[in-house]
Amino acid sequence: MQTLIKLYYKNVTADVIGPEHGITTELLNHLAEKTKPLIEQLNEHRKQGKTPYRDLPYDEKTPVKIRKLAAELKDRCENFVVLGIGGSALGNIALQTALNPYMNNLDDKQRKGARLFVFDNVDPDQLGSFLEWTSDRLDKTVFNVISKSGETAETASQFLIVRQMLLDRLGPDGFKKQIIATTDSSGGTLRRIVDETGLVSLEVPQGVGGRFSVLSSVGLLSAAVCGIDIDDLLAGARDMDKRVSDTDFFKNPAAINAAIHYHYYNHGKRSSVMMPYCHALKDFADWYRQLWAESLGKAQDLDGNEVHIGPTPIKALGTTDQHSQVQLYREGPNDKIFSFLEVENFGTKLKIGPAPDSAPQLGYLAGADLGKLLNSEKQATEYALLVNKRPCLTVLFPQVNANSIGQFIYLFEVTTSFVGALFNINTYDQPAVELGKKATFGLMGREGFEEIAGQIRPFTKIDEYYLV
Ligand code: PA5
Repeated sequence: MQTLIKLYYKNVTADVIGPEHGITTELLNHLAEKTKPLIEQLNEHRKQGKTPYRDLPYDEKTPVKIRKLAAELKDRCENFVVLGIGGSALGNIALQTALNPYMNNLDDKQRKGARLFVFDNVDPDQLGSFLEWTSDRLDKTVFNVISKSGETAETASQFLIVRQMLLDRLGPDGFKKQIIATTDSSGGTLRRIVDETGLVSLEVPQGVGGRFSVLSSVGLLSAAVCGIDIDDLLAGARDMDKRVSDTDFFKNPAAINAAIHYHYYNHGKRSSVMMPYCHALKDFADWYRQLWAESLGKAQDLDGNEVHIGPTPIKALGTTDQHSQVQLYREGPNDKIFSFLEVENFGTKLKIGPAPDSAPQLGYLAGADLGKLLNSEKQATEYALLVNKRPCLTVLFPQVNANSIGQFIYLFEVTTSFVGALFNINTYDQPAVELGKKATFGLMGREGFEEIAGQIRPFTKIDEYYLV
């Protein structure tokens, strides 16, 4: 069902927060002039195949393959386990939190598909506890190891642990039956293992970086197996594609969103807070954090100048973080822009009960819908920030459903492309992450990484003088 999400930007204007911090009409027109050629440029890049993530919602083959696989797993998979990290996990987590009930994993009646567990860390206590629980249910548990490069140490180590457990408990055939690998189509260690062992596999599309891959087989398989309507999700992304391709700046929510963030970054507001007022959207703030940080935090621009650029994305949750962060947000430095996510209609109506006679002061809550309280708190917090001249944007969701989530994903992916274009940087690489990966290989003794291991060693040795 289509429900159009909208970006509301009045509360960044000078009319609302004054000329010192707000954007005047003249300035907005100037931003429109600057951004307009970039809309055309991004549309052109997309036509030239330079941004393949833009075409994921139009890929007809992958959803067919995924639906088929999900149908095959239906009767034999009670627990679906994603082993991945970064872009190979955050989208999966966000989709699940957004589109399945809060008690999904615990309540058989509420659950529409398999339980989902996503492991995006290498904490032995965490994984150990899970493996203990799952060891009696291995034949009903399917592991989806996701790694585009097929080389990431965290995912590789999880895979090797699970592989050994499956081989020991279920033998080679059982191992093959319980594992699905999602990786690059041609290269990498994981693809080699797939080819050698004949594992069932899906492909991470060429040229699509992890953080832009949620609408590919990376995010779609776990979604489908857990009962999420992937067709609606992709339809929502296609709907948004039309809007974010519009060369009229004032009709293009991604261009406006990006231009506003670009302006504020250049005017001392270098942190960008995403604050959903909806539990279901909370992990999309996490997803956004990675998308923004890895895409926009860069040392060099495209002309080779040293720029060390990038807004710091911060996640917060309403109302929870009103009681944790808002003091700082209102009275601390005016160095942030806020993006609220607001939902008009929650799926559940929950009426607040009557106040006891002894507490008539609670009577104002009695009979009200809990969703109304949540939205009132959002409006109240936004008002409080506006009084202190803090710029606020809101993404309005008529409802949270697969279609609106597809729109949201696409909106923020393309916004990221626009901000990257405005900063004149490479939005799609992550050289700084790669160095950390290589350093880990060195520390873990991987052949070929001895040099970097030698460089790290002095930093890892504890100097007792500084130990108190
Ligand atoms: O967005 C990215 O490219 C990264 O966050 C990767 O997704 C992350 O590092 C995991 O990489 P891989 O999927 O190759 O294991």
